[in-house]
Amino acid sequence: MKPSLRNRLVVSLALGLAFSAHAVLGLTLYVARGEIDELYNRNMEQVAATVQAGPGTARPQPPPRKPALRALDHEETFLIQIWDRAGHRTYSNFPEVDFPLTSAGHGERVYQNRPWRYYARYEEDGVVQVVQPAQAREDAILEILQQFGVTSLLQLPLLVGLIWLVVRYSLAPLREVSQAIRTRDSHLLHPLSTDGLPVELEPMVEALNDLFIRLHEALEAQKNFTADAAHELRTPLTALQLQLDILKRAKTRDQHREALALLTEGIKRSTRVVQQLLSLARQGVDTGTTGAEAEFGQVVRDVVERLQPVAAASSLSLELGQVDDTRLPGRATDLAVLVENLIDNAIRYTPAGGRVRAQLLHQNGAAVLTVTDTGPGIPLNERPKVFERFYRVLGNTAMGSGLGLAIVKAIAEAHNAEIRLSDTAPQGLTATLIFPGVLSHL
Ligand SMILES: Nc1ncnc2c1ncn2[C@@H]1O[C@H](COP(=O)(O)OP(=O)(O)OP(=O)(O)O)[C@@H](O)[C@H]1O
Ligand SMILES: [Mg+2]
Repeated sequence: MKPSLRNRLVVSLALGLAFSAHAVLGLTLYVARGEIDELYNRNMEQVAATVQAGPGTARPQPPPRKPALRALDHEETFLIQIWDRAGHRTYSNFPEVDFPLTSAGHGERVYQNRPWRYYARYEEDGVVQVVQPAQAREDAILEILQQFGVTSLLQLPLLVGLIWLVVRYSLAPLREVSQAIRTRDSHLLHPLSTDGLPVELEPMVEALNDLFIRLHEALEAQKNFTADAAHELRTPLTALQLQLDILKRAKTRDQHREALALLTEGIKRSTRVVQQLLSLARQGVDTGTTGAEAEFGQVVRDVVERLQPVAAASSLSLELGQVDDTRLPGRATDLAVLVENLIDNAIRYTPAGGRVRAQLLHQNGAAVLTVTDTGPGIPLNERPKVFERFYRVLGNTAMGSGLGLAIVKAIAEAHNAEIRLSDTAPQGLTATLIFPGVLSHL
């Protein structure tokens, strides 16, 4: 069964109440016992005071006709005895009860297998002794207990019902919030109102509202992305259509070859755009590094090795500098996409004969990746813009979709990494990425 706040509150409060009722009952009995003892003792003393030892004493009423011991069980009946100085009993209201003479004052003793309370007042003429079964006091306490028990038994269900109602009433705002969320349309992400909400619920609703805002932003970003993607895909697809038309109309062998080359190039472009779009979309969907760990050094080495033929085809030297073995929280596949885009840019924008170099250093608990080239670099004012989606520096003749650095940025953000673009002396660009929180290095 699922834990329920309401059940927990009702049960714990009812149990607490039952426990405290018992504690109060115990305490009441303890106090009452003392009070009753006191009261009964005074009572006995008063009875004793009305009787005087010696001759001329006003004789109390004769005993009732019931068997004597049973008659004494009555709460207000006392055994009254008068003894002379010699220790002879001169009077008893229950003569057949031969309760012995006791010491002076209050006390208790067993007679006929039952405990009795007595009070003996020693006077000059003799002794007045008042006796009563101890049970009379127990009965009085029992009576209190019964009355108390009945009232608490009546009270308990009433109180539990009351607790149930109060808990239900107190939890009503929670139900209202759930209802408000359940009945809203999935595309309606406006914040929930916190007006009139109990303070305990406010943090939860505020957290939910935060989530709504982030969801809304994510949805908007997704919408924009889809619109952009559709737009960006239309251009290369139209180009493909055109190139195909040219190919169809080619008359000579040369024209045919040229058109075919154009079409091949067009397909390559489109493939690149689609690949980059998918890479970016993937970053948008699963952000965060959730528990995965990657050997970043190995990732850098693999990517450089994979891109060697590409660099060679552009007559560039692609070098691997110092690479420290560095474990990072993150996914190797994402880190590979990041490194690949940086080296790909360096190769793409550096003229033939240039140099591209990648290195990974472990510095002050951070992994520092640098990719340098000897290309044209990026003008200072363009540097913030190149990370925007589909942005390409004007006059750029190399093929590209303008998504590479946007992908780099998204992956870097998911890894809390910082990106810096700077100049390479004497010429070229240096891209530096600083990943904090390196797990270990060798
Ligand atoms: N190493 C570099 N040297 C010079 N310019 C660069 C370099 N890297 C990026 N740029 C500039 O920044 C722009 C954005 O780069 P980005 O990688 O985002 O897109 P792209 O390379 O044009 O397309 P793709 O999505 O295919 O990578 C590029 O168009 C280019 O003008
Ligand atoms: Mg690029």
